[in-house]
Amino acid sequence: MVVHEEEPFNAEPPPGALADQLITPLEAFYSRNHGPVPHLDAATWRLVVDGLVTQRLQLSLQELRGRFPEREVVATLQCAGNRRAGLIEVRDIPGEAPWGPGAISTARWTGVSLADVLAEAGLRPEAAHIAFAAPDVSPLADPPQPYGASIPAAKATSGEVLLAWAMNGRLLPAVHGAPLRVVVAGWIGARSVKWLQRITAQAEPSGNYFQAVAYRLLPAWADPSQAGPEEGISLGPAALNCAILRPGEGARPAPGPAEVTGYAFAGDGRSVARVDLSIDGGRTWAQARLDKAAGPWAWQHWRTTVELPEGEVEITARAWDHTGAVQPESPASLWNPQGYANNSWARLHLTCSR
Ligand code: MTE
Repeated sequence: MVVHEEEPFNAEPPPGALADQLITPLEAFYSRNHGPVPHLDAATWRLVVDGLVTQRLQLSLQELRGRFPEREVVATLQCAGNRRAGLIEVRDIPGEAPWGPGAISTARWTGVSLADVLAEAGLRPEAAHIAFAAPDVSPLADPPQPYGASIPAAKATSGEVLLAWAMNGRLLPAVHGAPLRVVVAGWIGARSVKWLQRITAQAEPSGNYFQAVAYRLLPAWADPSQAGPEEGISLGPAALNCAILRPGEGARPAPGPAEVTGYAFAGDGRSVARVDLSIDGGRTWAQARLDKAAGPWAWQHWRTTVELPEGEVEITARAWDHTGAVQPESPASLWNPQGYANNSWARLHLTCSR
């Protein structure tokens, strides 16, 4: 793993570790934390569901597993800071980790559907948002506070949002949210709250720092230290994105045919329709082959063979979704002061010599 920070622990796999694996092995799954990892005792842990509900619930893990049908969803989690390094090349972003293209991973999640739990609690008509609370206190928040987030009730009741206790057939490791986490399929990872303790139905979005202040897209000219709550665009559905996983940056392959592989991810309710590759800076393109997806909420891997010339080569990749939208060309046009949502064309530099 490429470790950006030991405390809080933030690490991503090198791109090659994500290649050819539709489901990311646990040891290669990226980790994104804002505070120390809590170690909760699953036996005494309880989940509270309250707020604008007709019936407050308090559930042990055993009750949750026994009372609701078990669901499995293959879903990709992508941090809003994925590929921030490309924005930092445009202009520095002090205090934020320079994530490469590995702040994204895919697991087979097992749990219950949040929709089923909310149906049991009975959402009142005024319940427009579902807020999640966790115990990990982040010193990065202003003021320091436990991590939290919210999603609109329409997404929360859509069926694909899970309360998960296992990934890839194993109980969640502490670092990924044991004993229970939210998995908001198709949305930025920040809303998939780990170490979940409380679900609150409310009329307004969460006032937690990580919903009201962070994970909002500010204009390039804004000063984040001066930005008030609710400024900028609250990030929700993940942006269409792609990356090249193999060969690796700076590789020195021989000229001639070479296989290029990568991932593309379309986010909430959209699917990847096409991935194009160019070896002449985007003047001409060839279409890559899409591998079969592991499910509607998962990334797609793609591959193609390109004919590498001798010398310095830049390989460019861009994805299209089924609405006809394509990734933007340049990171400069996307630069924002916290470095979120870089979904510009992927670029890889090689030196080809015999
Ligand atoms: N939940 C809590 N309680 N604390 C956190 O710091 N980080 C969020 C989200 N859930 C976070 C959290 C962010 S920004 C991301 S991208 C994902 O968890 C990362 O999940 P992972 O570490 O399992 O990959």
